[in-house]
Amino acid sequence: MAGAVTKTTPLRLVVAVLLAFLAVTASAYLQAKSPATKGDFRYGANFAVASGTLLNQLLFRKKHLNVDQITPYSLGIQIGWFKKVLAAIASTDVQRREIMASSLFLVGEIGANDYNHPFFQNRTLGFVRPLVPRVIRSIALSVEALIKLGAKNIYVPGIFPLGCVPRYLYFYRGGEPGDYDSAGCLRWLNGLTADHNRMLKGKLRELGRAHPGVSITYVDYYNEVLSLITRPAVNGFAAGTVLRACCGGGGPYNANLTLHCSDPGVVPCPDPAKYVSWDGLHMTEAVYKIMARGMLDGPFATPSIMSKCNHS
Ligand SMILES: *[C@@H]1O[C@H](CO)[C@@H](O)[C@H](O)[C@H]1NC(C)=O
Ligand SMILES: *[C@@H]1O[C@H](CO)[C@@H](O)[C@H](O)[C@H]1NC(C)=O
Repeated sequence: MAGAVTKTTPLRLVVAVLLAFLAVTASAYLQAKSPATKGDFRYGANFAVASGTLLNQLLFRKKHLNVDQITPYSLGIQIGWFKKVLAAIASTDVQRREIMASSLFLVGEIGANDYNHPFFQNRTLGFVRPLVPRVIRSIALSVEALIKLGAKNIYVPGIFPLGCVPRYLYFYRGGEPGDYDSAGCLRWLNGLTADHNRMLKGKLRELGRAHPGVSITYVDYYNEVLSLITRPAVNGFAAGTVLRACCGGGGPYNANLTLHCSDPGVVPCPDPAKYVSWDGLHMTEAVYKIMARGMLDGPFATPSIMSKCNHS
């Protein structure tokens, strides 16, 4: 998912950035038949697609994955949509570059689905691990495409700790004690996540050196979410529920893979704000709010987004 936000008053910025998070579960906010006017797009546009990947659907098909659940709208396609919106809101090259230079771009969080799809189709770590450098290259290409159009302020989040996600904990249940860290998360899966994030940070530093004058900032979703799981009480979460979904089909972690939150008869927990995980895969609104604040005000993005805003 990539979101673009035109620099404007702080309030508008908050709304637009939060939308980028919430759209993970919604379908594309930006659609061909969207009633939004060109004027609306000047304040922000969200290109998020539910279950969107970085890698092309074709690649998954070639690797013999079932692509019924994998959308064809990879990040590259979303960048194509972005170019169309840009062309629609400004008629001259000078205007377009002016809009790019005064806008803020949030590229991601994206990448987790590239790993989720194969894992939930029973592929091994040996299958998924080699995808990581390709995923990172794909993020870099998208960031470069935005820079080429004139972007000056880009935020790129890493992925959150997949080893603490209830659906994964259920899927790989019954492991050896040594498979779990002190928080109860799967070590090897958090290891994969950490590898992705480390490579992403390195790539963003490289891009920053290659493009002086462009601010490219890594956003640390991994440590932000992990801190909620390891120190739940600090943020009002219940210790016993950090690895359990609020809304699910029962069983350990309340993340039964055959019965989902959206299925008839599944009743959400009465106190979602005390949970980290909403449906076993996505976080609760309470968590997204904390993540948004950590990026807007810091410390999980340096410089924070608000410190870049024009407060006049
Ligand atoms: C994965 O393996 C499980 C257990 O063997 C099986 O029930 C399930 O159908 C498999 N899923 C896919 C997508 O192949
Ligand atoms: C999930 O829950 C349903 C309903 O209780 C049950 O029929 C099904 O066997 C469970 N599936 C798994 C994988 O535990």
